[in-house]
Amino acid sequence: MIDGFRCASCGAFVGLDTFAPWRCPNEGGDRRHVLVRMERADVGDSSVSADGDDPNPFVRFRRHMAWHAFALVHGMSDASAVQLVRDTNDGFRTTPVGRSSPLSDELGFRPAGGVWVKDETGNVGGSQKARHLMSILLHLRVAESLGLAPWTRSTRPSLAISSCGNAAIAAATLAHAATWPIEVFIPEWAGGTVVATLESLGANINRCPRRADDPPGDPTVLRFREAVGRGAIPFSVQGPENALCLDGGRTFGWELGESLLAAGVDEVDGLFVQVGGGAFAASVSRGAREIGLRAPLFAVQTEGCAPLARAWNSARDDDAMARHWSEHMWAWETEPRSLADGILDDETYDWVADVIELRATGGRVVVAGEQNVIRSSLIAPSIAGVNVSPTGAAGLAGLLQCRDELSDDARVVLAFSGVKRD
Ligand SMILES: Cc1ncc(COP(=O)(O)O)c(C=O)c1O
Ligand SMILES: [Zn+2]
Repeated sequence: MIDGFRCASCGAFVGLDTFAPWRCPNEGGDRRHVLVRMERADVGDSSVSADGDDPNPFVRFRRHMAWHAFALVHGMSDASAVQLVRDTNDGFRTTPVGRSSPLSDELGFRPAGGVWVKDETGNVGGSQKARHLMSILLHLRVAESLGLAPWTRSTRPSLAISSCGNAAIAAATLAHAATWPIEVFIPEWAGGTVVATLESLGANINRCPRRADDPPGDPTVLRFREAVGRGAIPFSVQGPENALCLDGGRTFGWELGESLLAAGVDEVDGLFVQVGGGAFAASVSRGAREIGLRAPLFAVQTEGCAPLARAWNSARDDDAMARHWSEHMWAWETEPRSLADGILDDETYDWVADVIELRATGGRVVVAGEQNVIRSSLIAPSIAGVNVSPTGAAGLAGLLQCRDELSDDARVVLAFSGVKRD
């Protein structure tokens, strides 16, 4: 079988040779379709492994990513593809992972078990978001350099993204380095460091108040979709807006597996990932699974906004879940609220890919009480020593929430992402 994406809702196939494989061809504007990369077993391939030891994961794991397959099938040499990564952004480095003794002790784990932390705060743009976006940008650059895109370097259409924080900064950072124009759609109330950073990176900022005639949903997403309708490129960290984002996010899971396997750990009892739109958890878990790390996904939401918990309850046994999209996923009815304000997406856009991972790994959704969100925001910096935001520490809130259900010898992993900015 040829490698590509398959729509989880309607089954449409999109091959890796396709230009701009952002959305399902049958998607009629409602975004209730999502292209999911075929499982490796389906394409007759075995597990993922690194190719060489280049420090940049977009080089080391290039052969497993859609942008690289697209480049090679259209005649680009592997050496040119590697050079393209270097020219686009050579700042990606494997982020560190290690057992935190202070945090393991604080949570009462014995030496055989404990808490492993992958510290993503030093990644490009200060969070994992740039990983999702880099795979889109590489596809664009390949298409442009091979003359497959309907533009040239001097007539590039704008990139567009909706976000209130880390994703916008990651997008603007990548766009700035690639000298690509970008429109950022942010909430009316956004301010402070994030906006100042976006301005310094030359992003075109659009504030998005809710309009009287707006349908339900986040107004920044509505304005973003209008821009895409006018020809902007969906530079999005949500799979239903741009499937390629899920592809690059897997680098986090590959790196994690690579580090733990090298240390003799091929199985952990829980991989805790904070969930907003859901792309991060889906790609981290998939990457870990592909490289051979057995890790049940513990997808963490907060009590102030937990649409994935709802969907997991109703969709876990539904074989045609994506076709029944609106029975399982709809916008959180009350105003989402939590100190972890970066994961307050009122819909878990990537819930289908998350449920696939929860099923495949034997995982679960944990809803963290706000007290645990607050506690995690304090102990992540003070005890684990990572300068991480409350959003980026929210996986720890999930661990605190279900600590009593885990043995003292359990081994768990946290993804600390999102540097604290103020
Ligand atoms: C630091 C951090 N961690 C986790 C997430 C959650 O990622 P996702 O929206 O893909 O679920 C976000 C963003 O939403 C984030 O900024
Ligand atoms: Zn479809």
